[in-house]
Amino acid sequence: MKQITKAADLELAVKEAKNQNLEIGLVPTMGALHEGHLSLIERALKENDLVVVSLFVNPIQFNNKEDLEKYPRTIDADLELIKNLELRIKNSCSDKLLAFTPTVDEMYPQGEPKEVYHFGPVEEVMEGPRRPGHFSGVAVVVRRLFDLAQPKRAYFGEKDYQQIAVIRALLEQIKYPIELIPCPIVRADDGLALSSRNMRLSPEARAIAPTINATLEQAAEMAQYEDVDDVKEWVLDTLSTFHEVHDVKNGLKFEPEYFEIVDARTLQPIENWEAAGDLGAVGCIAVWLDGVRLIDIVKF
Ligand code: PAF
Repeated sequence: MKQITKAADLELAVKEAKNQNLEIGLVPTMGALHEGHLSLIERALKENDLVVVSLFVNPIQFNNKEDLEKYPRTIDADLELIKNLELRIKNSCSDKLLAFTPTVDEMYPQGEPKEVYHFGPVEEVMEGPRRPGHFSGVAVVVRRLFDLAQPKRAYFGEKDYQQIAVIRALLEQIKYPIELIPCPIVRADDGLALSSRNMRLSPEARAIAPTINATLEQAAEMAQYEDVDDVKEWVLDTLSTFHEVHDVKNGLKFEPEYFEIVDARTLQPIENWEAAGDLGAVGCIAVWLDGVRLIDIVKF
């Protein structure tokens, strides 16, 4: 693995790769890497000649200053994890992987970018209204990364399901011929979706957090014989009453922010299972637990 901090150096490396007709894969991350990210990198390494992994906490996608400040920054450990992955998968060709770790000034040399993206209905639901400006900020940084890395393929985790729909809409808008590769969620043994935010959970909160996935899995079973509205109501009730039913101490409570059952392509809520289109239906949830906001999905 080679670490690159300057945009110009990345451009140079990409130019050299393009001259040799190498195919480039891009894995955009905000660092604080875990096995979920590593699975994206591993897949990108299998499918491309050169892989650019970006590690950049993008300030313009945070609509909450405290969230930005608290976002874990673990760059040394991240680079170690990438090196260990290379060893683990015996990727002897160490120049196949570029870790791009720019500063904010390097990414945005003109200061905070003025461009704003709109994506219509896919961003008007769930995360969109709750995190104003978030998806536009994601689009700005992802487009910049696309411009620098010029990938053939770009890899994103399905935990941020709405983000994938937004990137799909971005690619349609800017007409870049990049293949968007959604990758399955990686879970801990107890089912909790891996997330950089999990490291902010107290041990007590971490112990009950797998309930989110367990509830969603049960919802998938229920979906075979219950209506959409009943499944929705059951998930929200199960989580918000969990602390009472299970007599959870320490004042810990799940506070579901939303649970929506939507068409997996358009992300618009569906009223019955038959209304889902070619990609089927997906349930998307955001839950507060102990001051940490966790998201997860279930496919129906
Ligand atoms: O999913 C993330 O970690 C970020 O939103 C991304 C895509 C790296 C853009 O900053």
